[in-house]
Amino acid sequence: MSSEGAGAPDARPLFSGASPREVAADLAPLVAFRQEGLPLEAVKSLVEERLLPHLMRYDAPSFHAMFNAFPEEGAAYGAGVALAWNQGVTNWQVSPGGAVLEELCCRSLCRLFGLAPEAEATVLYCGSYANQQALYLALCHRAERAGFDLATRGLAGFEDPGRLAVLASEDAHLSLKHGVRILGLGDEALVPVAVDARRRMDVGTLRNTLEELQGQGARDVFCVVATAGTTSAGAVDPVAEMADVCAEHGAWLHVDGAYGLAYGLVPEWAPLFRGVDRAHTVSWDPHKQMGVPIPNSILFARDRELFRPMALFSHYWNRPDTEGPNPGVKSVPTTRPMAALPLVTSILHQGLGGVVERLRRPLEAIRGLYEALLHEPDAEPLHEPDTGILCFRMTPPGVPPRELDRLQEQIYGAILREGRRLISVTRLGGRAALRAVAISPGVTAEALLETVAEARRMAGELARSDSEGPNLQGEEQVQ
Ligand SMILES: Cc1ncc(COP(=O)(O)O)c(C=O)c1O
Repeated sequence: MSSEGAGAPDARPLFSGASPREVAADLAPLVAFRQEGLPLEAVKSLVEERLLPHLMRYDAPSFHAMFNAFPEEGAAYGAGVALAWNQGVTNWQVSPGGAVLEELCCRSLCRLFGLAPEAEATVLYCGSYANQQALYLALCHRAERAGFDLATRGLAGFEDPGRLAVLASEDAHLSLKHGVRILGLGDEALVPVAVDARRRMDVGTLRNTLEELQGQGARDVFCVVATAGTTSAGAVDPVAEMADVCAEHGAWLHVDGAYGLAYGLVPEWAPLFRGVDRAHTVSWDPHKQMGVPIPNSILFARDRELFRPMALFSHYWNRPDTEGPNPGVKSVPTTRPMAALPLVTSILHQGLGGVVERLRRPLEAIRGLYEALLHEPDAEPLHEPDTGILCFRMTPPGVPPRELDRLQEQIYGAILREGRRLISVTRLGGRAALRAVAISPGVTAEALLETVAEARRMAGELARSDSEGPNLQGEEQVQ
């Protein structure tokens, strides 16, 4: 595995560029299980020849598609130890060191993000589960206020469960939809709130929606979700103003900072995250830009008491009278990896100064791309970026506006097929857009602009071939 970060331009492709059918053919020998085992050397050769060429090189400065990064050096060390010892860290009984490390790490992270002294956190597998647990805790809280215990009575305890609602920005992550479905509330419980030109939640609309829904008693909004770094555009909702509105209406505030929360550690970006300490719960995914191995997610609560509904005890496991720390009573998994260790060793190795520098680089790269695109006649940024994501459109002269959606999809498809760079395509405000993401510290404004140059060249070719006859078919959209 190569180390991350900027380096000499690298001509190797990001991945083989093979089709799903070709990849499946290459991988078939790996899953043709046989009676006799193979020597480890033979297993290694198979993996190296058959699998590695098809894996994605997240360390390359030309990877601008998703939220993945190669492990940072300190994180890789911690992950190696966690793997070698394969500790489960649910409680003291199963791993004294692992359980205490997780608890101490959670408390240090609460301090790092400026949360209240009573704040607490739990380590989870992914941001989607963190969001889901936050919605459950918010619902437990609402039930408690209605005078019953959700754990005992379930949704039947509510007079009319159909009135329960969660408000979130129209750009909020799809895990919230999973969340309301898994809680048995259904998609109708998730009410989208419009965003402004920067793709941040519009607080005026939030206030009006809440007043309308609650005022008529039509709905019972038990949770408002602020996204601190949306998946599609990296926008940070105005958390402090949303906290005021929630306080007025008695709604639980959850901050989905799975992607963006870390950027609050960069002093120049910190003002965007004002008010996060007022949220009841906050999710964060260190496995995104921090360079720690997947899985690594955190759910914070502003008071450790808020985790109480998660605690389940048994006679053999997580006994209520057991002394010692018990990370397993704050969230669902009873088998938990020692995910705190790579995060701890990474921060130790880089120092907080190094972490901030690592986080600042992609933010500056995206800002640089935005400023450059403002001067390009054939590219249009669709929003001013808050964090490390910019959505834009290529608008070559001569291509009619009605063709522009199709053109972006085609550019995306052509770039994907070449396998040398990667960008994604999304829809923003009903329009197709190319989406550039900077996650690794090796992604620079120059590397992003090279991708724009490539997109320009492809746009030219596509526009030419279009005027000469049938063009490439539209490509599947990725998020
Ligand atoms: C804003 C936001 N929330 C939640 C998630 C879900 O996180 P995970 O992929 O770790 O489940 C993502 C993932 O991209 C995200 O961007």
